[in-house]
Amino acid sequence: MKFQRILVTTGCLVYAPSAQAFHDQVVLEDTVASLQVPKNVAIIGAGSAGSSTAYFLQRYSQERGIPLNITVYERDGHIGGRSTTVGVYGDDQNPVELGASIFVEVNHNLVDAAKEFNLSTSGIRELSAEGPVLGIWNGREFVYTQSSGGSWWDTARLFWKYGLAPVKTVRLMKATVGKFLKMYEEPYFPWESLSQVAYDLGLTTATASTGEQFLDQNGIGKLFAQDIIQASTRVNYAQNLPLVHGLEAMVCMATDGAQAIEGGNWQIFSNMLEASYATVHLNRTVDKVEKLRDGAFILSTKQTGSSATLYHQKFDEVVLAGPYQYSDINFDPKPRHVPDPIPYVQLHVTLFTSKHKLSPLAFNLSPDDLVPQVVLTTLPEGEHYGSNPKGVGSPGFFSISLLRPSMDTRGGKDELEYLYKIFSPSPLNATFMANILGLPEPEAISRDDVSWMYRKVWNSYPYEYPRVTFEELQLDEGLWYTSGIESFISTMETSSLMGKNIAKLMVNSWESQNSGRTM
Ligand SMILES: Cc1cc2nc3c(=O)[nH]c(=O)nc-3n(C[C@H](O)[C@H](O)[C@H](O)COP(=O)(O)OP(=O)(O)OC[C@H]3O[C@@H](n4cnc5c(N)ncnc54)[C@H](O)[C@@H]3O)c2cc1C
Ligand SMILES: *[C@@H]1O[C@H](CO)[C@@H](O)[C@H](O)[C@H]1NC(C)=O
Ligand SMILES: *[C@@H]1O[C@H](CO)[C@@H](O)[C@H](O)[C@H]1NC(C)=O
Ligand SMILES: *[C@@H]1O[C@H](CO)[C@@H](O)[C@H](O)[C@H]1NC(C)=O
Ligand SMILES: *[C@@H]1O[C@H](CO)[C@@H](O)[C@H](O)[C@H]1NC(C)=O
Repeated sequence: MKFQRILVTTGCLVYAPSAQAFHDQVVLEDTVASLQVPKNVAIIGAGSAGSSTAYFLQRYSQERGIPLNITVYERDGHIGGRSTTVGVYGDDQNPVELGASIFVEVNHNLVDAAKEFNLSTSGIRELSAEGPVLGIWNGREFVYTQSSGGSWWDTARLFWKYGLAPVKTVRLMKATVGKFLKMYEEPYFPWESLSQVAYDLGLTTATASTGEQFLDQNGIGKLFAQDIIQASTRVNYAQNLPLVHGLEAMVCMATDGAQAIEGGNWQIFSNMLEASYATVHLNRTVDKVEKLRDGAFILSTKQTGSSATLYHQKFDEVVLAGPYQYSDINFDPKPRHVPDPIPYVQLHVTLFTSKHKLSPLAFNLSPDDLVPQVVLTTLPEGEHYGSNPKGVGSPGFFSISLLRPSMDTRGGKDELEYLYKIFSPSPLNATFMANILGLPEPEAISRDDVSWMYRKVWNSYPYEYPRVTFEELQLDEGLWYTSGIESFISTMETSSLMGKNIAKLMVNSWESQNSGRTM
């Protein structure tokens, strides 16, 4: 037992310089045994962060010749966490994203993984040339509509209405993203403290201010901020510019190369787990994490939903790859550092199919106008930066997207319908549905009007209040935590980056443990 850390690193024998270890015979015997003793790592959560941790741990430890044994515990019955799909009409062959739906070309981890695993990506395309592609609704009128796809700033109409603000926004966004991308590279990567690296890269300047202040400080006009940028912070984070910090507001404007994995983004994470050779337990909830005096951990787990079956397993290190506050884990003893509770947005996602198009009357258009395929929202002038920055305001919802045509073939039918997704802060009622679909009587909405509906309430992402310090990566010796990055930027990519970063820190520390004992 005393010689467990003996490892072959760079081809020579390395052993612990404890008194007992100076017995050659013992060293040789134990070396043979220790070659098979891997680092046992538990990862709690099979979302982007956990899967990426496993994938990069495997890669980095292989590079260093460190044997590794990863076990992943996932409470849900699926891999992906908040990246997950449901079947339209209940048909798994017809999946639609229920959570995270889009990533962009600067998301290196996701883009590289999609390539490595040969996953096909699809761009976010327009449905048809018919009618406007996108409109921004303030509850009274459309403040902006766009009739063709492409980058948001390509449109001449933007310049006509907002002058130089779009150009300045792109410039600021590119400068900010440029700083962020340094987090992937030496000498910054891997970072031991998110607060420190954010500060070193000048990104705390953006996180310290609200989006409203940050844009104002950078000379970007109020009208453009309110009409366009706020529509983006609302659809992406369900929050307004006087709340969300400047960095997250910039992330919302970095939309180049928007894409998704055909069939579901979760496939990136299931492929990562497969490539990590991890043992993956689905439907398995971690109940308790006990730290032993020798520094090892005992995890107690059970079949999700049952209280009966308990499993116990010992690990050298543990990674908590989901929000601490929702993990419901009993840590014994409490970690040296307990993360602060984070206010998460409660987002209602409603997916439904209908033969009806959106009603022009619901959007104060004339009866033969076409409603934009994607309706984003902002606040009207009077409510501008109102007293409740969390507020959805008079639009009543954050976004409505017509995702694609949908053929309902159930029960011998063959009806062309549309698949819609709505983001809102509360459940949608019949009055709301009847209004947007142009139906006279809410009481009379039938299966003929709305043929399929799926509702989900997510703790989707934090309210991104301005701040300059971020959660620790290590809650205790050997206990790592990924979700602190969500208060910095909350995306699949940043969770993946945190997983990669922690994997690198872990492997570096194993290596220095060994080299520290080199004689
Ligand atoms: C509606 C919606 C839309 C979004 N849109 C986008 C988007 O377009 N693009 C984008 O990049 N991001 C988007 N996001 C954000 C994105 O989903 C998250 O930032 C990202 O998926 C977080 O990944 P994670 O691995 O850190 O956490 P999660 O995906 O939450 O994974 C944590 C996992 O840990 C598991 N777990 C927790 N506790 C335990 C326990 N005790 N035992 C076992 N398992 C446990 C959970 O079941 C979960 O699977 C969206 C989110 C939502 C909800
Ligand atoms: C690897 O981890 C599993 C738990 O998932 C454990 O049962 C097994 O003994 C470990 N293997 C080694 C060689 O440590
Ligand atoms: C997980 O549990 C659900 C609900 O009990 C079940 O339908 C599903 O088949 C389980 N999945 C796995 C992989 O065990
Ligand atoms: C992806 O495709 C390439 C070329 O077709 C192939 O060489 C590679 O093995 C494939 N990778 C996976 C993970 O399937
Ligand atoms: C339905 O929802 C709207 C908000 O979208 C709300 O104003 C209205 O009071 C609700 N109606 C009922 C009957 O609950």
